[in-house]
Amino acid sequence: MCGIIGILGNHEAAPILVEALKRLEYRGYDSAGIATVHEGKIERRRAVGKLANLSDLLVHEPLAGKTGVGQTRWATHGAPSVTNAHPHKSGPVSVVHNGIIENFRELRAELAEKGYPHNTDTDTEPVALLCHSFMDAGKTPVEAAMATVDRLEGAFALCFMFDGEEDLLIAARKGAPLAIGYGDGEMFVGSDAIALAPMTHQITYLADGDRAVLSRVSVEIFDETGAQVQRERREIRMDSARIEKAGHKHFMAKEIAEQPTVISEALAYYLANDGAGIILPDPGIDFSAFDRITMVACGTAFYACYTAKYWFEQVARIPVEIDVASEFRYREPPVSANTLAIFVSQSGETADTLAALRYMKGKAKTILSVVNVAESSIARESDMALPILAGVEVGVASTKAFSCQLTVLALLALEAACARGEMSADTLATRLSELRTLPGLLTRALDLDETLNAVSNELSEAKDVLFLGRGMMFPLALEGALKLKEISYIHAEGYASGELKHGPIALIDSHTPVIVFAPHDALFDKTVSNMQEVMARGGKVLLVSDKKGLEVAREGVWQTVQMPEVPDLFAPILYAIPAQLIAYHTAVAKGTDVDQPRNLAKSVTVE
Ligand code: F6R
Repeated sequence: MCGIIGILGNHEAAPILVEALKRLEYRGYDSAGIATVHEGKIERRRAVGKLANLSDLLVHEPLAGKTGVGQTRWATHGAPSVTNAHPHKSGPVSVVHNGIIENFRELRAELAEKGYPHNTDTDTEPVALLCHSFMDAGKTPVEAAMATVDRLEGAFALCFMFDGEEDLLIAARKGAPLAIGYGDGEMFVGSDAIALAPMTHQITYLADGDRAVLSRVSVEIFDETGAQVQRERREIRMDSARIEKAGHKHFMAKEIAEQPTVISEALAYYLANDGAGIILPDPGIDFSAFDRITMVACGTAFYACYTAKYWFEQVARIPVEIDVASEFRYREPPVSANTLAIFVSQSGETADTLAALRYMKGKAKTILSVVNVAESSIARESDMALPILAGVEVGVASTKAFSCQLTVLALLALEAACARGEMSADTLATRLSELRTLPGLLTRALDLDETLNAVSNELSEAKDVLFLGRGMMFPLALEGALKLKEISYIHAEGYASGELKHGPIALIDSHTPVIVFAPHDALFDKTVSNMQEVMARGGKVLLVSDKKGLEVAREGVWQTVQMPEVPDLFAPILYAIPAQLIAYHTAVAKGTDVDQPRNLAKSVTVE
C-alpha cells in the first residue's frame, strides 16, 4: 500500500531513489514519483503506471541532487494521474505519504479559506499545504512539520523535504510502518527494510506516533507527546537471493517453488532436535488455560485461519471463532476472559488486522500473532509473535506465506491438543513425523507443473470457475478461488461442496469448470456425491485427488490431477500447490501481470 523512501546521501539521489522504489513497488504500482533538492530548490518527476515509466522520464528529464524523497502509489483518494502522484508540493515543502489522512476534507476547506487552495484529488496534498501555511506563519521547517503531524488524523508514514534544506528530512509514522536506515555519513527513510537493504543494514523501526528529524549524521526521535526518545538500532540483513527472481519468470513462480524449502526451515525452527516435540519461544503458550480461540485475519491469511479452525477443533477440541478483520473490528464482539486471540498476517501491517488486535488488547487473555515480518506492528503489539519464516514474499498473491502460516498453525494445534490432554506423546510423535514428510510431498506436487499448465490453458478460456471442497478442503476451495480471481481476473467462487445444492448449483453449465479438491479421506465419498450432482447437470469437473481417489471417481470427469498421498490432517498444505499453480498458469495464459495484478497491493495499510 504505497511505499515511501527518503535519502540524505553522498551520491546523486535520483537513481538510488528509483532503485529503492523498485524494491517497494510490490506495495503499489499505479504511479510513482521522486523529488530532489538541488541548489536550494526542489524539483519533481512523476509518471503514471509502472516505475519503468518514471525511469524513462528521468532519462529525458534527469534530476540532480543528493537529497530526495520518492513514492510508489496505490491510489486511495484520487485516480492514478501525474497530478495526483507523489511527491506533493506546496511552496517550500515536499512530502511523500503512505496511508490515509482521514481529516483531509476538513484541512482542505480550512486551508482554502486561508489562501492555500488544493490542486489535486489526494488526501496527501493538504499535508504539504498545511506545512507550507505554518512556514508562512513563521515556523521553521521542523516546527512546521511537527505542527502539521499534530493535526493529522488517520494512518500515515510521511517524509518531508524542504527548499533550501539539503541536510534535513523529517519522518513521521502513525498506523503505517516506517524505518530509519543509517549509512556512513548518509541517512535513509523507508517503508520497510527491503527498500533500505542495499544502502544499509543498520535500521531503527519507528514506533507508532514517532517523528524523526534526520540529518546526514544524526537522528532525533520524538514520541507523540513530543518527548525525545531512544529507539533500538538493529542489524537487519536481508538475504538478497530471496528478493530476486532467481531464474523464474515471476516472483510468484519462484515463491511457489520455494515452498518445500521454507516449510523445511519452519519445521526445523519449531521442532525439537529429537523430532518428538514442538518448541515455542519463551515463555511458551499454555493451551490448557484457554476455553476458546478467536482467530482474525484478512484474505489468504483468513483462509489459513479457517483451515486452522478445523485443526484446533478436531484435534485439540477447543472451540474456535474466526472472522475477517474488517468485520471483527467494528462488530464489538463480547470476549470471554479465557480467550486466546490469534492474528495471522504475512506483512504484519494490515490495518484491519492491527485494529482488530488492538480491540482484543485487555479483553483476551493472550494475544498471539503469526507473522512473516518479525519487526512488524502486529508482531510488536502481540504478547507473543510466531514467525512463519517464509522469507520475503514479493508476489502480490500470497503463496509460500499461506503454506508457512498453515504449517505454524498446524504445529500450534498439535501443541494445543497435547496440552489439553487430547493427544498422547506417541500420537504427537507420529503427527510430527508425518509433517516432516511434507517438504518431500510438496516437491512431488510441484512436479505436476506441466499437467497443471496444460489444464490451466483450457481454464483461461472460462468466464467463471467454481472451487469445491469439504472439511479442511473447503477453506482451500476459498483460497483457490481467491488466487484465481486476483491474478487471472476470472470470476471464481469457492463453496463447501455440500452447500452447492442450496443455490450455487444453478450456475452449473458446460462452460463453468468446477475444480474439486478431494483427497481420499473420510469425507471423500460425500464430496464425490456432490461432484456427481455437478456432472449430472452437464458441469465439467477438474478433480484434484490422489491415486485411490481417482481410481474410484475418475469416470465422467473432464480432467484429473493425481496428487501424492498425504496424511489427512495436512492435506490442505499439500493441495495449496495445485491451487496456486492453477491460478499462476491461468494468469500466464491470459497474459496478465502476475506479480502486480491490477488494483491490488501487498500490505494493505488502509481500511
Ligand atoms: C491474497 C493476498 C491477500 C492477503 C491479505 C492479508 O493473495 O495476499 O488476501 O492475504 O491482504 O495480508 P497480510 O497477510 O499481510 O495481513
